[in-house]
Amino acid sequence: MNYQTILEEIYEQIQPELTKGKVASYIPALKQVDSDDFAMSIHLLDGTSYNIGSYNKKFSIQSISKVFTFSMALELYSTKLYKRVWHEPSGNPFNSLIQLEYEKGIPRNPFINAGAIVTTDTLLSYYKTKEKAFEAINNFINKLCKEDITYNKEIFDSELKHGFRNQALASLMKSFNNIKNPIENTLDTYFKQCSLMMNCEQLAKSMLYLANHGEDPDTKEIYINSSRAKRVNSLMLTCGHYDASGDFAFHVGLPGKSGVGGGIVAVVPKKMSICVYSPRLNAKGNSHAGTKALELFTSKTKLSIF
Ligand code: DON
Repeated sequence: MNYQTILEEIYEQIQPELTKGKVASYIPALKQVDSDDFAMSIHLLDGTSYNIGSYNKKFSIQSISKVFTFSMALELYSTKLYKRVWHEPSGNPFNSLIQLEYEKGIPRNPFINAGAIVTTDTLLSYYKTKEKAFEAINNFINKLCKEDITYNKEIFDSELKHGFRNQALASLMKSFNNIKNPIENTLDTYFKQCSLMMNCEQLAKSMLYLANHGEDPDTKEIYINSSRAKRVNSLMLTCGHYDASGDFAFHVGLPGKSGVGGGIVAVVPKKMSICVYSPRLNAKGNSHAGTKALELFTSKTKLSIF
């Protein structure tokens, strides 16, 4: 299969979609992007990669970071983690508070904000300080993409200042004793992981372990064991796009995770990982053109898991 030609075809076909949707504005610093931008990268297990568009341009990874923190927490706590964060789709928006009250502070899954905040809280408990917890998250991703990445302070500050719903989620969960550290430390770490900056090529590369049973296909390092890699992939499929997860599975048919920065990562098990970037979002907070591009990709290549 000629993947570069396929990416070029997608790039051409996607052009009319690039002006549809809206860039996220509830974190004001996220608005400062070229709204009609597009990039796509794929990395195969054999080390080859293909790119199109502004694949070198860094953007805020936002909720894509939840895949990394969940992988780390699962490796540290194994099934004990499920006492504090469940593994069912929520059917609700990513920042919804409603289920948490009647489900006694246990978030439905690690990819909605509440679940990701709990996941980060478990890392904070393990690494003791917010500085060490963030350093561990940053180092984990550096290893995966084999480059040093950093967070964007302006985006971090913007989220700290405007993250009212996350503060509400964390406070509500604290009232149920499902946040063990001071809320401000847990949120500090969570906002920093969300404001990490990566480009499409780095993100695609960093997801390869999930296409390879948790193992780095290049160095052979095992980041998570194969049954945990299965669990991360299955949650990406069922919960990676919040209340649009069914729609994403229906149209794209791959485990995937979106972020409000406009990125989406996807995994073709045993074959490759993909990242697409386009900052205009659909009504559910997922990249509009990114989703369409992935749908074109699986239609052209027949590489959906179904
Ligand atoms: O906590 C937030 O609201 C953001 N830092 C992340 C949300 C997000 O990326 C949702 N994804 N589509």
